[in-house]
Amino acid sequence: MKLRFEPSSGLVGELRAPADKSISHRAALLGAMSCEPVRIENYLHAADTTSTLEAVQALGALVEIRDAETTIRGTGLREAREPDGIIDVGNAGTLMRLLPGWLAAQEGRSFTLDGDHSIRRRPVDRIALPLRQMGAELDARDGRFPPVTVRGARLRAISSELPVASAQVKSCVLLAALAADGATTVGEPERSRDHTERMLLRAGVNIHRNGRHVTVVNADELILDRVCVPGDPSSAAFLVAAGVLVPGSRLLLRDVGVNWTRTGFLRIVRRMRGIVLGDLEDESGELAADEPVSDLDVAHGALEATEVEADEVPLAIDELPLVALLGCYAEGETLVRGAQEMRIKEIDRIAGVVEGLRGLGADIEATDDGFVVRGTGGLRGGSIDARGDHRMAMMGAVAGLASREGVEVVGIEAAAVSYPGFVEDLTGLSS
Ligand code: S3P
Repeated sequence: MKLRFEPSSGLVGELRAPADKSISHRAALLGAMSCEPVRIENYLHAADTTSTLEAVQALGALVEIRDAETTIRGTGLREAREPDGIIDVGNAGTLMRLLPGWLAAQEGRSFTLDGDHSIRRRPVDRIALPLRQMGAELDARDGRFPPVTVRGARLRAISSELPVASAQVKSCVLLAALAADGATTVGEPERSRDHTERMLLRAGVNIHRNGRHVTVVNADELILDRVCVPGDPSSAAFLVAAGVLVPGSRLLLRDVGVNWTRTGFLRIVRRMRGIVLGDLEDESGELAADEPVSDLDVAHGALEATEVEADEVPLAIDELPLVALLGCYAEGETLVRGAQEMRIKEIDRIAGVVEGLRGLGADIEATDDGFVVRGTGGLRGGSIDARGDHRMAMMGAVAGLASREGVEVVGIEAAAVSYPGFVEDLTGLSS
């Protein structure tokens, strides 16, 4: 489906961003791993997180959706049922990487996970390696890609240094570690989002962090009771970018999650002199159990170029397309380095963003691990193909409102993967 986004003269209003996708996936999975029912307030009912509800049902959990509350009655840590057929993760990379962690510990049972064409090009060897080290058996197509079959086993505790900062891989190992035979430590080269660690701490698990290392001790059960999912900072980021870029804008975004490991983009925007007020969580050595929220007050203003280095990349990984878009409007040259992980997202996002924005008039070039964009005072407009990637679709729409001639987004329906009401929200703010 194609949709045109015309230049806007200002976005004004108040909005609640959709529920957090990462936290919703984790709440459903930890709910399925619990023996007692877990009530989830404000679960994200979007394509990716619906795949997770369907997956946990296939594994024996009961799911009840009533008004704003989703209740999961799980099977317990070691009692996932072997499903009749394959588990279809759809487009959900987080589900594809986290779920095998739990399944690896289901002794004597076997599970096959598959997904759409985009999932089939995203590597799973990075989870296969540590899970095999723990004693599970995994087979993947060409040794690297879905479909993947996991044969559960009695797991050993390990100490693992991940070669890339990936919250998905780290979380996979942490979930497997719950049923291993001791304390498992996972190290990452840079800090990545820590929702799994926080939720496990809340569920009574013995888990702690020491710098870039997390240690989790095996557990008998999870006791979670209730999870309240905050607004998704990655979805809110598209509204923030729109508010900063479209002249005359003033937006109030309610109850956005401001966990430090998710607010890299907001810090980048502030560094670019973008006006975003809000009470962001500070970096802390201690592992917190809660997920802080804040309102964000956003206004249009002039931007300056910035540089984003590898340590900041995992903290803004899904928002880097927006850094490219902001760079088109900023004074100077904006550079992103150390972001090769962008190439294995729903699409190759370095290529997608660079080609997409160039088609709208941007002066932007891809590098091996990022991009360089020179601010030219704005974008002409034109047409952009989302290529089935929700973040590309939303970036195209925001570009349209801020452009001189408007932007047609081909495949705008992809936005529903993480933000079902995106078009209505954005056009509702537009005057
Ligand atoms: C996610 C982690 C990130 C992110 C993805 C969601 C998660 O992936 O890009 O959209 O929920 O853990 P990586 O951790 O693999 O970079």
